[in-house]
Amino acid sequence: MKYIHKSLEEKKEECIRLLRSTNRPHIDDLISFISHMGYFVAPGSYKHHRFKGGLVSHSLETYYEAMALREQKMKEGFSPDSMPEESVIISSLMHDLCKADAIRFSEELRKVCRVKKTHGHSSRSVRKVREAKFRLTEDEKNAILWHMGGEHIYKDKQKRIEFFHNNPLSDIIRKADGKSIGKSKMRHHKSMV
Ligand SMILES: [Fe+2]
Ligand SMILES: [Fe+2]
Repeated sequence: MKYIHKSLEEKKEECIRLLRSTNRPHIDDLISFISHMGYFVAPGSYKHHRFKGGLVSHSLETYYEAMALREQKMKEGFSPDSMPEESVIISSLMHDLCKADAIRFSEELRKVCRVKKTHGHSSRSVRKVREAKFRLTEDEKNAILWHMGGEHIYKDKQKRIEFFHNNPLSDIIRKADGKSIGKSKMRHHKSMV
């Protein structure tokens, strides 16, 4: 079944199944932490996936896109070890975590409402994962920190290009995030969210 046709409950189950499949220490602590934050009901953003459950929908879509990009990278000669599947799961599903308790979709107003600040959300997402006592690898931390393109880290465009060339996990997460956002906007255009 295509991801977009899955119910919110099915998306939640899939997200939990994927996270558990990593077998990483404290993964259950992370699942219960994100659940309490509101990860499974929060919208994805003000601009895309603007519906209840949009965050988990966007995160899963980012995961599927990232796995497809990983295949492409391997065909280009990148080693699978430079972007392990468990790291693709963790970084895709956690890259926007800080939005889980920062925005809500109001059914009554039919719009996304701010609960907390979302500015600097990539570094806040890393901090939130740490709060759950879960340890990110250096590559996973970078993939989350750089998913917006890294302009807040390096002003120099050439340095950013080099970073993404040398960090395939960060590169596929950034591109997958962009693809998911683009698809959501296209669906919204056709009124399919
Ligand atoms: Fe983001
Ligand atoms: Fe995102």
